[in-house]
Amino acid sequence: MSTNLEHPIGELPHGRPQQTIVDDGRDYPRLGTVSFRRGTLTPRQQELWDEKWPTYGRILDDDVISVEDWFHRPGPTILEIGSGTGTSTVAMAPHEPNANIIAVDLYKPGLAKLLGAFIREEIENIRMIRGDGVEVLHRMIPPASLAGVRIFFPDPWPKARHHKRRIIQSGTLHLIASRLRPGGVVHVATDHAGYAEWIDERVNVEPDLEYMGWPWDEAPILTDRQLTTKFENRGLKMDHTIREYLWRRK
Ligand SMILES: C[S@@+](CC[C@H](N)C(=O)[O-])C[C@H]1O[C@@H](n2cnc3c(N)ncnc32)[C@H](O)[C@@H]1O
Repeated sequence: MSTNLEHPIGELPHGRPQQTIVDDGRDYPRLGTVSFRRGTLTPRQQELWDEKWPTYGRILDDDVISVEDWFHRPGPTILEIGSGTGTSTVAMAPHEPNANIIAVDLYKPGLAKLLGAFIREEIENIRMIRGDGVEVLHRMIPPASLAGVRIFFPDPWPKARHHKRRIIQSGTLHLIASRLRPGGVVHVATDHAGYAEWIDERVNVEPDLEYMGWPWDEAPILTDRQLTTKFENRGLKMDHTIREYLWRRK
């Protein structure tokens, strides 16, 4: 099957973002092509994007990231997969000034909102990658390098035939574990009861990750999300319970 991974992101004249899931026999799902309609940024956002993206953003490619070059310092690095509009990213980053935060999403308007927020609030420790977080881990992050991986309110893919697209599953947990340094943390939150049940069944599926439950007071990275995100607020309004999960890389 053609994966079109060289050009994973395109523009469509109309319609919502479109995703094609690639099933090429690997043990985790990958997003193949992702297309967005044009004109999704306001003129101000577009101006800021054009000016700042080269400094703060990258598109998925095969260049392994040098954190020291990108952030101009070493420091523990935390990757957030599916940052959405960046609500938690911007809320947490000022409370972890020594950490280098890399937010990954496919959703350009969300990344544009995040960019606007951290420039406005003069937060220095956030960078962004546009692309599939699984591919980013696989191709751009050196093994045993991360202090943390965050996945907050991942798409629940509620239909049974789509469950295999869920990002929390053994293959991705294995990949995440391989990119964490010993002692590194995985932090997942969901408000979807079915997804929580799915995760409950998989908390011990990756031998290199020790399940720490929630909360974990001694966690070596910030685990307080500081405020509720857009998706979380929507969930709370519908009386959803928020479940959080922490693992430690052995
Ligand atoms: C339900 S939203 C949650 C956004 C945010 N974390 C929050 O709590 O508001 C899920 C986000 O994950 C992104 N996403 C889904 N699959 C992804 C993947 N494989 N890599 C990167 N981002 C992904 C979507 O574009 C979307 O922005």
